Amino acid sequence: MCGIVGAVASRDVTATLIDGLKRLEYRGYDSAGLAVVAENNELDLRRSVGRVASLESICGGISGQIGVAHTRWATHGRPAEHNAHPHTSSSQVAVVHNGIIENHNELRLVQKERGFVFSSETDTEVIVHQIDWHMQQGQDLFNAVRTTVSELHGAYGLGVVSKHEPGVLVAARSGSPLLVGLGDGENFIASDMSALIPVSQKYMVMEDGDIAKITSTSIEIFDFQGSPVERAVLISTLSDEETDLGGFAHYMKKEIHEQTRAITETLEGRLGADSVLDLPFGENAREIFDKTKELKIIACGTSYNAACVARYWFEEFGIKCDVEIASEYRYRKHVVNEGTLFATISQSGETLDTMAALEMAKTLGYINTLCICNVPESSLVRASDLTIFTHAGREIGVASTKAFTTQLVTLLMLAICLRRRRLGDGRSADVMEAEIVQELRSLPQQIENALDLEDDIIAMSKHFADKNHTLFLGRGAHYPIAVEGALKLKEISYIHAEAYAAGELKHGPLALIDEDMPVVAVAPNDELQEKLKSNLEEVRARGGKLYVFADANSDLESDESTLVLKVAPVNNYIAPVIYTIPLQLLSYHVALLKGTDIDKPRNLAKSVTVE
Ligand code: G6P
Repeated sequence: MCGIVGAVASRDVTATLIDGLKRLEYRGYDSAGLAVVAENNELDLRRSVGRVASLESICGGISGQIGVAHTRWATHGRPAEHNAHPHTSSSQVAVVHNGIIENHNELRLVQKERGFVFSSETDTEVIVHQIDWHMQQGQDLFNAVRTTVSELHGAYGLGVVSKHEPGVLVAARSGSPLLVGLGDGENFIASDMSALIPVSQKYMVMEDGDIAKITSTSIEIFDFQGSPVERAVLISTLSDEETDLGGFAHYMKKEIHEQTRAITETLEGRLGADSVLDLPFGENAREIFDKTKELKIIACGTSYNAACVARYWFEEFGIKCDVEIASEYRYRKHVVNEGTLFATISQSGETLDTMAALEMAKTLGYINTLCICNVPESSLVRASDLTIFTHAGREIGVASTKAFTTQLVTLLMLAICLRRRRLGDGRSADVMEAEIVQELRSLPQQIENALDLEDDIIAMSKHFADKNHTLFLGRGAHYPIAVEGALKLKEISYIHAEAYAAGELKHGPLALIDEDMPVVAVAPNDELQEKLKSNLEEVRARGGKLYVFADANSDLESDESTLVLKVAPVNNYIAPVIYTIPLQLLSYHVALLKGTDIDKPRNLAKSVTVE
């Protein structure tokens, strides 16, 4: 994925580049670098391993009115200074790149024969040598980039500067997000607008196949054949307010506690007196929902877990629902039944596999495409027919929390809209819908109650911090909640965590049970609780230690091998949202005890724009 910022101005842009990188660190943070064309018209390149702060510490004295910068999430070549971007060729050209060049080996062979010397193990370096080569053959910077992109296979967002044209910033996009930010007598490029909050609110979205020639006073965008294209100027609504830690030690903790407000906002304007409204899903949502007989949902990571929970709701309501991981979906053949709506779920709206799955789905005969997303200005939103926003607010912690619970709430509302179609005229709500709507309205208060468990969870977390493995169990819609709980724990505490449908325990994982393997179980008061209790007995009988989040009305009690934490009674449909909260808190507090980098766990990134 990686984050790109570039600027061209009539002032020193170094501070803007560094600030932009800090704002993009969520896209990758294993190394960072920048290059400016200095006053002597030479490229000044600085790179360092680790966070942008360490890059900043080596940027003293650097100054230039044009430059490109990059924060990296390694794909080709380990995190190291020589693999960090920008990459340069003979100190003439500097390139930052997001994406993967698939034909880099072929290009490298040719370039070695031409005498280019490679200083990194990255796929990116072939881009800069190729641009340099075309400039050596007499092309200007813009045309050299245009020729080069016609020779690349793969995905890229590129920012390029050259010492030979110190007023020109060239950007190209194919498959990796890139925007042009408009300033006053200065212009910018960035992977997303959050990088440019202090300097620009107006922006243009580059589309795949666009190449831009940008100076401090002009922006020209062309297709790869060189014909001019028009891109609309949009106004960004992003502000800095949401990036304040607000007294919390970590963004993840802040975001866990923000779920009350986030869900309130997700529900706002979407509920009638006793029904879920169709219209917030889009102008033509009614007609599309009327035609929808089945649902196919595609997502990655935490968003995929949300889809897995929702499958239980859809099928409970009589709507066939199939859920699949985007990276699998895109590489197999499909049978699409008539009347199937294709839905994607994504916090960022930029996940490359999900985007690619959507593009593929458009050719396969689905009735329409719907996207559940948290970022209005994202690629997935622009590419979908219908969108419903989760309104979680900006999520900064890499481990997703409030985005997940707001996705669940949105999916439940969608399930209710489709359920109505099963009832008859499709437009009027019944008693059951009215009841679920009341439960939805009470969610913010119920989340507050779940957050009140934090002190007990802090005590519980001490039992996990010295462990290497954990098992999470759930049944029904709480099986994917257990999966999400395990994902949170492994992401931020680095403790190996697996989740199993509790009924599967006896088919393998039971062999792992001993006192060093804590077993976490999610036990709401539903029709599966008795079955779950039997599964917990199987653990107890083998000396396992149980940590159970159970309905306060259940008869599950703590004893020497079991710690039961009582959760306030909750309606079955919204229980998955509520039971998520203690699992998030558990992961957070275990990670806190372990002293890991909670908001930016090792090897991960918030937005994954590579395959
Ligand atoms: C990355 C993030 C996860 C996220 C996943 C899917 O792996 O670290 O938190 O769940 O991408 O992202 P999306 O933005 O599509 O929901």
